[in-house]
Amino acid sequence: MKAWRRLIRMTAAAAAAALVFSGCGASPGAGDIRIGVTVYDEYDTFISELMEDFMEDVAAVNAGELETPVSVVRSNAAQSQITQNEQVEQMIAKGCSVICVNLVDRTDPSMIIETAREADVPVIFFNRELVEEDLMSWNRLYYVGADAFESGRIQGRTAAAYIREHPETDRSGDGVIQYVVLEGEAGHQDSIVRSETSVNALIEEGVQIEKLESAIANWNRAQARNRMEQMIDSYGEGVELVLANNDDMALGAADAFDSREIPEEDRPAIIGIDGTKVGLEGVRNGKLIGTVYNDKEGQARAMLDLALAAATGEGMEDLPLTDGKYIRLPYSEITVDNISRFGEETP
Ligand code: GAL
Repeated sequence: MKAWRRLIRMTAAAAAAALVFSGCGASPGAGDIRIGVTVYDEYDTFISELMEDFMEDVAAVNAGELETPVSVVRSNAAQSQITQNEQVEQMIAKGCSVICVNLVDRTDPSMIIETAREADVPVIFFNRELVEEDLMSWNRLYYVGADAFESGRIQGRTAAAYIREHPETDRSGDGVIQYVVLEGEAGHQDSIVRSETSVNALIEEGVQIEKLESAIANWNRAQARNRMEQMIDSYGEGVELVLANNDDMALGAADAFDSREIPEEDRPAIIGIDGTKVGLEGVRNGKLIGTVYNDKEGQARAMLDLALAAATGEGMEDLPLTDGKYIRLPYSEITVDNISRFGEETP
């Protein structure tokens, strides 16, 4: 049984007792489960959709029979680790029973861990994965995310299947697919792993490929458009495949071809990762040949389940934790053939 479903059956008194037991900092109101959430950048498309799902799940819990209200204290770190460290301190001062952290700098969680540990408030890191050594440094630290290797593998295989079905992708007819990679942030686990794994998957699938260039565009559509325009200037119509680490950058690449008014038949195949609303729309309208679903609904739900369990000490055993620490949701392929299963209809 899900932790929060079990909680719905708890009485307010039992929940309040569990909260006292959790030993959080300043005391929240009796029965109030207060969750702090800080994100690295609230304007990141995937993160903002993940947060929407999280808030919907919280609302669903509050609309249920749960006699213990759940409240959320939200903050945007706006790409500053120093700001985020302060936000965590404030959340603890405001009596949060548990804190969910989307780290700005995934290599620098030490202040947050120290602050939370002193106050004995559990922390759930999500989406931006800290190194294992940091995660293991205290028993009340957790991580919710996905397996970056799987996203790259699926992206490469999906692109390979497309190329097999559409031999015209090799416009030059030289038997080799000339490709470029649009990478997320330098040092982000998803950028590093996706870039490498998707290319390896193409090779394993027997596609002959040649890398023209890779460019960092920080998950951002406008930056990707700029970088792609520069590559159009360098290679003309020589680019046959664009592997983008996320949908926003894939769409930024498509924007570049639009802005240069390049006809459809001279454009490369473009593929993203995430399955955000705009990404799904891009697959539907043919701008993208596909994407890879980054299960934000599943990640949001897992964060809430884990947050409630960690805050109350109840239901931890029902959660699919690996090594008592990690919850990773699977990715899945999205193409025009199965897109009706995603978006509004997604379970
Ligand atoms: C990735 C996602 C990107 C971006 C990034 C932020 O998992 O695919 O679009 O949101 O996380 O950390």
